[in-house]
Amino acid sequence: MLLVPNIILSLGLMLILLCAQSGLAQTSQKETERTAELLATLLDAGRVVVEQNQPLINDPRRGDKGFSPDVFERLVLDEFFHQAQIDLKTSSSSFPPHAKDLLTRLLLASKEVVADAQFVINQRGIGYKNFIPATFGSQAARKFSKQSKVTIKQTTLDPRNLRNAPDAYEETVLKRLAHQPASTSPLVEWIDDGRLLRAMMPIYYSEDCLTCHGSPKGMLDISGYPREGAQVGELAGAISIQIPVDHR
Ligand code: HEC
Repeated sequence: MLLVPNIILSLGLMLILLCAQSGLAQTSQKETERTAELLATLLDAGRVVVEQNQPLINDPRRGDKGFSPDVFERLVLDEFFHQAQIDLKTSSSSFPPHAKDLLTRLLLASKEVVADAQFVINQRGIGYKNFIPATFGSQAARKFSKQSKVTIKQTTLDPRNLRNAPDAYEETVLKRLAHQPASTSPLVEWIDDGRLLRAMMPIYYSEDCLTCHGSPKGMLDISGYPREGAQVGELAGAISIQIPVDHR
């Protein structure tokens, strides 16, 4: 007599467990997506800080620029707060678990790039030093990716630097982004049966970028590359992030 209710009970229990599990899977998927977005935002914050300090970095009359890794870190944390409303140094509750660890490592990699560049940045008598948002971003992304299962890369359809060349997936998404209205949120997608998150955060050209990427198309810029003939607001490329489910 007790057999039937028992079966029903265990079936019910199984159902509850299954639901809880898929609920968990969903929250951790959402958390991974948020982590990707925050990583892209942090790399972008570093790019913005380099862009804002470009006149200082390129000043041939000054030796020591005072653009030290610590100064850079403070500016990046401010910019990150401005973009994400998160104080990376203090808050922990507003983060998905593991996001803080990855963000801290990206911040460290970014600081190392600035530390490695001190000699170049502090040279007197030289204006353009090839320390620009793109070189900073590529180097920080590479340093970070070397030590992690999570990878970050800057890419674009027709790259100046072939190391930034898009893979097949990135190429498809970049083509899609180029035909969409500008957006600051990344495109995220789970591929490989939900085992890999791919996120692409678009970067657009601002006025500052056009001295090198603008017109006249084909004419060499100060860095020695031919200009792309780009206009303000056009898609410049994307920050591409891959997070495997078992990245820990
Ligand atoms: C001083 C000239 C200069 C300025 C200003 C400049 N760039 Fe670049 N950009 C370059 C160079 C040089 C590279 C290739 C860097 C390398 O060798 O990795 C590049 C590369 C890039 C890339 C990576 C893809 C590739 O082609 O390799 C992106 C994206 C990019 N720039 C966007 C921008 C944006 C957005 C701005 C403005 C915020 C900007 N750039 C400002 C010179 C410049």
